[in-house]
Amino acid sequence: MSALDAVRARQSWSKVDDTAPSREELLTYVAAAGRVADHSSLRPWRLIELRGSDREALGAAIAKAEGDKSPSSKPLRAPLLIAVVASFRKSEKVPHWEQEAVASGVAHMLSLLLDEAGWGVLWRTGSYTRSKAVAKAHGLEKNEVLLGWLYVGKKPAGKKPGRRKAVDARKLLTRMPKKKSKK
Ligand SMILES: Cc1cc2nc3c(=O)[nH]c(=O)nc-3n(C[C@H](O)[C@H](O)[C@H](O)COP(=O)(O)O)c2cc1C
Repeated sequence: MSALDAVRARQSWSKVDDTAPSREELLTYVAAAGRVADHSSLRPWRLIELRGSDREALGAAIAKAEGDKSPSSKPLRAPLLIAVVASFRKSEKVPHWEQEAVASGVAHMLSLLLDEAGWGVLWRTGSYTRSKAVAKAHGLEKNEVLLGWLYVGKKPAGKKPGRRKAVDARKLLTRMPKKKSKK
């Protein structure tokens, strides 16, 4: 499949079955996704695999962040969650927003590779994404923030994801405004 075909075919899957890609398979995609454009090659990102009871630990952290008594069941919606972490490096030249753009690019690229390999993916966040409790559960350092989680699992047989609106490229690709001539 060409890159163009893979991007055109990609869709998010909100419901997935209970089978997940192995760590070995993931390593291949992560190494490829890490090839995104990266100013000064800072590698300002890392990923954390959440499987099995890790998801329950996240559910407990979400509850703590939200002030709820019982753990959130949200992380149980897929067998594998991949936490996307921006790890800011010290740099005179590359501000944090550029480093977040790199981490975000890795997540988009990884989503595409997983989708193309037949796995269902949905990037999710929530008001708790940057809470203290959730950061602690992931063991984040002071220079790190979460960009959310890729929820990954097997695409359910015989089902299709929701329909997507077509992208109006002519409207979204424009030119610089013309300078007004002085009268
Ligand atoms: C940073 C980020 C956070 C997102 N958070 C959520 C979320 O919490 N819940 C959700 O339903 N979709 C979320 N989305 C959108 C879905 O991942 C998905 O892109 C959307 O449902 C559209 O589906 P499509 O990717 O097939 O076009 C998020 C996307 C991004 C990039």
